[in-house]
Amino acid sequence: MTDKFAQQVVFITGGASGMGEATAQQFSRHGASVVIADVQVESGQEVVKRIQDAGGQAIFCHCDVSNAQAVQRAIEQTIERFNNLHILINVAGIASFKTFHEFDETDWDRIMGVNLKGMFLTSKYAIPYLIKNPHSYIVNVGSTSCFVGDVGESIYSASKGGVMMLTKSIALEYAASGLRCNCICPGITDTPMLRYHLNTTDNPEQILADRLRRVPTGTMVQPDDIAKCALYLSCDDSSSITGTHILIDGGYLAAAEWAPQPHH
Ligand SMILES: NC(=O)c1ccc[n+]([C@@H]2O[C@H](COP(=O)([O-])OP(=O)(O)OC[C@H]3O[C@@H](n4cnc5c(N)ncnc54)[C@H](O)[C@@H]3O)[C@@H](O)[C@H]2O)c1
Repeated sequence: MTDKFAQQVVFITGGASGMGEATAQQFSRHGASVVIADVQVESGQEVVKRIQDAGGQAIFCHCDVSNAQAVQRAIEQTIERFNNLHILINVAGIASFKTFHEFDETDWDRIMGVNLKGMFLTSKYAIPYLIKNPHSYIVNVGSTSCFVGDVGESIYSASKGGVMMLTKSIALEYAASGLRCNCICPGITDTPMLRYHLNTTDNPEQILADRLRRVPTGTMVQPDDIAKCALYLSCDDSSSITGTHILIDGGYLAAAEWAPQPHH
């Protein structure tokens, strides 16, 4: 526990699970006040309780990030409770896998609504408060899908491509106001989302092993790897970095093709 983020208020979407939860815990361990905004009420409240039990400050806001009124209300609740907002971490996201022409309009609206419109809305309502501070930060969680397509996840990839461009645009528009905006792009990360999708297949362990053969380190990214990067991008340690991304993918996108190599 340090006080590196003492007096800092952090709003984290998707904070009830996976990377969002890890990020909330890390910020709290370093002294920040944390707002967990999520649709999962029970898990979100449990994260808040764990943070409070460890001596930290946190509140839960039930918030569907694709709903403008809900987002506006959650930001207002944050200001009412903590009087300020310094850091917005957009983690909430959903994935859905189908052959392209089998997706329908509802799938498009749902996936784009959470993954891309959600980031538009949280940023739109948070920025007026963020820029009241001399330094403020937005960190968006994208994916390796910000850069490459994949079979079966066309809408997800389109949404994550949009996340990258939203990140750059916000960074440019608010650089002079002391707001920095960056994107973390995870590869295969061990979270409930990954496990859920693996478990819809006939042989989850085999599918995972097959996917990891394509990853140079041969290992999954851990939620804490993402969380620590979010902290780095939300303080002076990264003071010249804005409008860009950090890939955390075990080397996945470093090669066009990959076959496991011998140990040197
Ligand atoms: N796990 C991976 O392998 C992986 C890889 C690349 C990118 N990502 C991205 O990382 C982010 C976090 O995913 P995760 O793996 O931790 O998944 P997760 O399912 O464990 O967590 C996602 C959280 O988002 C919340 N959420 C979903 N819809 C929401 C909504 N409408 N409003 C508010 N909250 C909502 C969920 O309730 C959940 O708590 C996502 O944006 C995902 O696309 C994940």
